[in-house]
Amino acid sequence: MLPPEERLPQIRELIAGKHYFIIHAPRQIGKTTLIRNLSRSLTAEGKYAALTISLESFMEGEPESVMPQLLKGLWSDAKYAFPAELQPPKVGEFVDDPLIALREYLFAWSGSIRLPVVLFLDEADSVTGPVLLSILRQLRDGYTARPKPFPQSVALVGLKDVRDYKIQVRPDTETLGTSSPFNIKVESLTMGNFGREEVARLLHQHTEETGQRFEPDAMEEIFHQTGGQPWLVNALANQLTTHYSAIVKDRAVPVTREHVLTAKEILIERRDT
Ligand SMILES: Nc1ncnc2c1ncn2[C@@H]1O[C@H](COP(=O)(O)OP(=O)(O)OP(=O)(O)O)[C@@H](O)[C@H]1O
Ligand SMILES: [Mg+2]
Repeated sequence: MLPPEERLPQIRELIAGKHYFIIHAPRQIGKTTLIRNLSRSLTAEGKYAALTISLESFMEGEPESVMPQLLKGLWSDAKYAFPAELQPPKVGEFVDDPLIALREYLFAWSGSIRLPVVLFLDEADSVTGPVLLSILRQLRDGYTARPKPFPQSVALVGLKDVRDYKIQVRPDTETLGTSSPFNIKVESLTMGNFGREEVARLLHQHTEETGQRFEPDAMEEIFHQTGGQPWLVNALANQLTTHYSAIVKDRAVPVTREHVLTAKEILIERRDT
């Protein structure tokens, strides 16, 4: 695996600068890998209480029913991510008023621990328009109330850019009314495919671990066939060398361009997603 943070070097600066921001990129680019890895590092370094939660399980329902589930999800993920002194309060009475529950809960959590909270909301665009709007409104309210304790940074992570979020809300429902869903200045970052160099580095890792080489034109063919798409590069390399039906299992045999073309055909046959 390539060091995920290097793919978005600005991200630590945004957090240090107390920004709220968006990370958007196509499927299987490495968003989740990056933010989960970064959350763990930030927490382990002892500077922040950083957590990634996925909104994917809250796809259905109205804010009134989703918000309590969301708080419970956050609480339960936090239990595993943090030592006792950094954990958020029990959900308890916070859910009594679901439309401000998230805001109040984040106030309470941020105010009760000694480190700033950093929150990554993954799969942000999987929730319905009204739920997303409610989340955004509560985050905005909390943000504008700072320096009252509230998360230092929040990132919404998904497929769409900030400006597209508005579209998900039906025309007859309320929107936040600006191009920014937070109604505050928000940075928007994106991630792209691996470049030739990164593909080569990833393949070199395999060589370092196993001794098995990739011939230069094999590397070039892998880059050419995958366009550097992170999932595809891994899938192709896996089919070549580590899958149970890998075509070059013998570590003494270097991977050639021919092998790559054969592996590509097998992958197409397998039609994994
Ligand atoms: N840093 C990395 N180094 C090498 N491969 C990576 C890296 N990050 C991601 N990948 C590859 O890309 C795949 C997809 O990663 P991930 O699930 O993080 O993407 P995603 O953008 O969150 O996808 P989705 O939009 O479907 O949620 C991984 O299974 C892995 O094969
Ligand atoms: Mg993901």
